[in-house]
Amino acid sequence: MVKGLDKNSASSQNGNISIPHIHNGLRANKSTSIGRQHVESEESLNSVVNFPMAPFEVGNFLTGKYGTTQILSADESTGESTQRVTLKKGWSAPIGHFNTDIEIFVLTGKLRQGGFLLRDLSYSFLPAGIPSGPWVAEEDTVLLWMPDATPTYETQDYASLEQIPENSAYHVKMQHHERMDEYLPAHELHAMKWESTTFLPPGSARKSLYTNKKTGRATWILGLVPMWIEGNFYAGHPTIEEAYVISGDVQGHWSMSDDPFNRRYAIMGKDGYYWRPAHIPHGPFWTEQGSLLLFRTKNRLDCYWMLHNPDITQQDQTRLQTALGEDKSV
Ligand SMILES: [Fe+2]
Repeated sequence: MVKGLDKNSASSQNGNISIPHIHNGLRANKSTSIGRQHVESEESLNSVVNFPMAPFEVGNFLTGKYGTTQILSADESTGESTQRVTLKKGWSAPIGHFNTDIEIFVLTGKLRQGGFLLRDLSYSFLPAGIPSGPWVAEEDTVLLWMPDATPTYETQDYASLEQIPENSAYHVKMQHHERMDEYLPAHELHAMKWESTTFLPPGSARKSLYTNKKTGRATWILGLVPMWIEGNFYAGHPTIEEAYVISGDVQGHWSMSDDPFNRRYAIMGKDGYYWRPAHIPHGPFWTEQGSLLLFRTKNRLDCYWMLHNPDITQQDQTRLQTALGEDKSV
């Protein structure tokens, strides 16, 4: 819900995140709520491209001169967040490492990170402490920036090195890092095979981008064929979930943040977004055009199901009786 709000009402400067534009409509007691607030509304599902913009600042890495951000959801106390960031062509940063895990998903543009090119629909997972860079925006680039906390970027250990890709890739802090095997410099979506999904009916497929085998935390792409339909049920699960539509539409019964237990019909469109806490049931869903979505869950996804229309005879007896009753009265 961002209509009529000051465009400067979002901020990420100096590590402070302020997101007044996404608190509208929440009724839960904030002092007893989780860090991130539920973001799911007609506006967020429709498109986030008009969410407020703010300068994007990460010390030693990027200044607001070269980047803007739209904060889609955030824990204001830790900086854990999902942001839609635009980088200007020509921006560059030296070799360094972040102090927190960061996921990056490039929507459009070209971003060079060390020896890797992140372009349309590329993904990267940067564990804390792993050297990266040098960085160059070869085109104006729009990406989803998903840090686990407010990041800092340390460059001191690499300042005397020639700024070439080998000096981050071959660095002892990369090759001997205890989390080196978690590092995903570049997953390019166009090069990945589709896999079967676990819960959804045929016509759905996924491309797995990141999975933490211990916790079940995962990031993946969901693809839905045109006219895919979920069925007569809605579902909840013991993990938060967020999704961003890359293309197409998803229609159905959404658990809006202003009234999460009375689902409302809406169409989620290109650049639509939601971040939903655990145990908020949602659905069922379907699509007209087909759809491509980026999904993230914080823990393993185990669904539990409830009937959407409890009249499993599908005859809708209540409405039928009402209609017959009205006919008699005419
Ligand atoms: Fe879900």
